[in-house]
This record gives sequence, C-alpha cells and structure tokens, in this order.
Amino acid sequence: MMSKSHIRSVLTTLIVCTYICSINAQAQGPLHGLDTTVCNPSTIPNSQTPKKPSLSETYRLTVECNIQNKNYSTDYTEYFDYQNQRAAVHQWEEGFHAYGIYNYAANEMYTVEAQTGVCTVDSLSSSSNTFLFGFKTSATNPKVGRMFSAYGALRFGNGTNEQYMGRSKIRGMQVDQWKSCLYWSSMDATMEVHWYFTAPGWGMADGKSQVPVRCTVVGNIWEVKGSTPTARKFTHTYEFSEYLTDDMAQLTTTTFETPSGVICPGRKDTKPLPTPATAFKFTSEILTPDSLTIGFIKVISKFILNSGEWYDQKMGLVRYDYVPDSQSVSPFGYGLLTQVHDFNEGIAYVIDPAVGNCTAQPIDGTGFDAKFVVGSNNMKVRIRTPAEFFYFDKTQYAYEGVKSVRGVDCDVYITQRTDWPPNTSGYKSTWEWYFAKKTWVQSTGHTYDFGMPMMLLLKADGVSWF
Ligand SMILES: *[C@@H]1O[C@H](CO)[C@@H](O)[C@H](O)[C@H]1NC(C)=O
Ligand SMILES: *[C@@H]1O[C@H](CO)[C@@H](O)[C@H](O)[C@H]1NC(C)=O
Ligand SMILES: *[C@@H]1O[C@H](CO)[C@@H](O)[C@H](O)[C@H]1NC(C)=O
Ligand SMILES: *[C@@H]1O[C@H](CO)[C@@H](O)[C@H](O)[C@H]1NC(C)=O
Repeated sequence: MMSKSHIRSVLTTLIVCTYICSINAQAQGPLHGLDTTVCNPSTIPNSQTPKKPSLSETYRLTVECNIQNKNYSTDYTEYFDYQNQRAAVHQWEEGFHAYGIYNYAANEMYTVEAQTGVCTVDSLSSSSNTFLFGFKTSATNPKVGRMFSAYGALRFGNGTNEQYMGRSKIRGMQVDQWKSCLYWSSMDATMEVHWYFTAPGWGMADGKSQVPVRCTVVGNIWEVKGSTPTARKFTHTYEFSEYLTDDMAQLTTTTFETPSGVICPGRKDTKPLPTPATAFKFTSEILTPDSLTIGFIKVISKFILNSGEWYDQKMGLVRYDYVPDSQSVSPFGYGLLTQVHDFNEGIAYVIDPAVGNCTAQPIDGTGFDAKFVVGSNNMKVRIRTPAEFFYFDKTQYAYEGVKSVRGVDCDVYITQRTDWPPNTSGYKSTWEWYFAKKTWVQSTGHTYDFGMPMMLLLKADGVSWF
C-alpha cells in the first residue's frame, strides 16, 4: 500500500519535473545564475519564419516523460481549459495513479490518489504544483490567480527567443524543430529546450496542424552540497500524443471535478445544502449492486416541527409502501406492504393490502423515519426532523460540483458519517446527495425550493446502496 504522502510527493515531483528537472526543492542560498556552459539565450535569435504553431487554449494531451538522468519514465494526461480557468492532470508512475484538479475559482487544488481515493486539499496560491498551469495574479485583482495561457503552460511561443532548426522526422512524422535557452532562477537551472511540432500539411487526428510531438530538455541544475554549489546534469524527453483540441478534447465539468465518493477533507464549502421541506412524498428505487437487487419504496411524510418536546406533541405521520427484500427477515411475508407510522402514539400499522389484515406494533427507533428519544432508555421514539431524515444533520457536506444522473445535471454534495447504520458505531459511511439543478423543473412546472433529490449514493465498508 502506498501512503498519501508518497503519492503526493510523486505528483509534486512529476509536475515540477515536467519540462525541467526532477527535484521539487527550491534553490537555496546564493544562485549560480545562468550557466553558459549549457546555452546562452543571447546567442539564440528569434526566427520570424516559418510561422510558429498557434496553440489552442483548450486541449487534452498525453505525455510520456522519459527522465534519462534518473532511469525512469512516467505518463500523464493533461486537461487544459483556459477559457473556463480550470485544469487537471492525471499521472501514472511506478504502478501509482494520482491526479491533480486545479480549481482556480476556489483557489484550491485537489490531489487524489486514485487507487485508495485519498484526497488532499492545498491552496493553489501556495502550491508548488502550480508550476504546470500557473497561478498569476494581477494588480487589479491580486487575490485571484489565473492560469498561464497554453503558451505559458507548454513553455513555447511565450516570448522567449526560439530559433528554427529545420525539418526532421520523429516517430515517422514530418516535424519542424525550434531551439531555445531558458534559465529558471527558482531552481537555479539552465536548459536547452528543443520543441518539435508536426509540419504544416501533415494531417493530425483532430484536424489541426502543427501539433506538439516532442520536447527535449537538457541542462544543469545548481545544487548546494555541503557548502559547495555543484552542477547536476539532467536530460528529459517528453513525447506528446493524443493531442486533441477544442470540442475534440471533450472536456466536461466532470473532467475537472473530484470523482464520486471521494472526500477531500478541509475543502471549502462553496455551495450550501438545500433546506429540506417539512412535507413531501417520493418514490425511490433502491439498487444494491453487491447483491444485484433492485427494490423500491414510496414514502409520504409530514413533519410537524413545533416543539422540542418530541414525544408528547403532534409529530407527524409517515406512510411508506414497499416490497420486503427477499434476502431480509420479513415477519409479514414478501408481498407488497404498507406501513403507517403515527408518531403521536408511537405506533406502526403494518398493512398487507392483498390479505387485508393489519398489525399494530411499536415504531422501530432505528427505522429510516424514527429516532429514539434521548433519555427514554429506547422506550420512546420520535419522528426524524427533515434534516435527520436526509442525514443532513451532525455533519458538514462539501459541494462536489455538477454530475449527471439519468441525464439530469445535479448539484452533488458529499460527507462522511460514523453514526450509520443507526444504533451502531465505528462504521465509516460516505453519503453523496444528488439534487437536480434549479434550472430543471418537474412536469408540474414547479421548481421546488428544496430542489429535486435525484440520488443518494451511500457506501459503507464495502456496502453500496443507491
Ligand atoms: C541508469 O542506468 C545506467 C545504465 O544501466 C547506469 O549507468 C546509471 O548509473 C543509472 N543511473 C541512475 C541514476 O540510476
Ligand atoms: C509567459 O509569459 C507571460 C507574460 O510575459 C509571463 O507572465 C509568464 O510567466 C510566462 N510563462 C512562463 C511559463 O514562462
Ligand atoms: C396477515 O395474516 C397472515 C396470515 O395469518 C400473517 O402471516 C401475516 O403476518 C399478517 N400480516 C399482517 C400485516 O398483519
Ligand atoms: C440500540 O443500542 C442500545 C445501546 O447500545 C441497546 O440497548 C438497544 O437494544 C439497541 N436497540 C436496537 C433496536 O438495536
């Protein structure tokens, strides 16, 4: 098992090493400065012809990074959307898969370790991972960071002198080559960079021409060992493929969101949960993928919330219709059943509509609609409050973004609880609520203040319940 810190450092290393070097430390002490034994920018003219490639501000790109000086390779896929100020990167290295999601609007970066679902939140403005896509503030808006343009992110055509080196062939493709010399003071590194783009007229997958094919970076990084600054050589080759731009890149909101079921502790709460209504009815389909079962429940519920003295006040009614799960213990058989819970009296009426009989029994305080009254020694039950009914209580949900359920765009909220199943402790469960976005209306023409609950995804210790 890999640890969170391991994969975080892998991602940090990868992103920082991208295009330059394989360390993540900042340069310490006095800088060596430009190392002219590597190259010298003043000797490199900026070629006016041929025309340099123009880069799309929306793209997806797969990169194979070959870090020759350290004998390893790593792959990643970059998702870049300048217009909407969002970016993501997936990385595969030594059997690990991690990814970073850049949320410029919230100034947050989420690093998710894919195999374990562990997520870490960092502030983008102080993250070293902004190296890849940038974090530029402006004088007019110093608190809000923006991404680099594609030219900045790819470090090509961004104002540095680039000399045309002629036509050559890479992986069978006709390419044009440009050379530049860069010095990065943050790492005290000087490097000669060669960029290769497909030649004009060479047809590419998404119909664009002049797409990135390869970048080589060779240079020296100055490190202080003991008290002696020493040059360390590095040689990296980046092979680019599957470069798709604009609509072809198929970037969706999901590309830039943490995946379903992943909790990012400490993430900013950017959108509050809806407030539940006090009376409602709904039908819910219950899918249990582990046992391959589909069930349903129809619920009609009326909460009367006029007192803290729950059990001797009018507290509302709940009715629900259901067919018991064939794998559960059901004393009233496995046909359709109706239950009416009268919380005024604490009595559950169980009705079998086919037979026409009814059994009255105490309401189970661990049911989905009930709670034991505190201090009553589990003798008395009360109806759940609407917030308790939807498990909104005693926890802070985080807004995850917009995801699609049955073709409907939903606002998604997630949290983790340790008090479920009821009357147990020590189980961790993940609760993910999907509410249809306000722009969706029901066929009645009504938009509910509460929103339309579309799905609850509940995972607990390997058990899933939709
Ligand atoms: C990389 O492999 C080469 C050839 O096997 C070896 O000479 C070199 O020391 C290795 N470098 C590192 C950093 O392991
Ligand atoms: C690209 O150029 C812009 C404008 O000069 C600059 O702010 C930015 O830092 C440059 N990006 C890189 C990666 O050098
Ligand atoms: C209805 O009657 C049947 C047969 O006596 C019994 O098995 C069942 O539990 C009863 N159901 C209810 C809801 O009372
Ligand atoms: C709930 O938990 C309490 C204390 O652990 C126990 O006494 C009671 O029997 C439990 N009730 C049910 C319905 O499991």
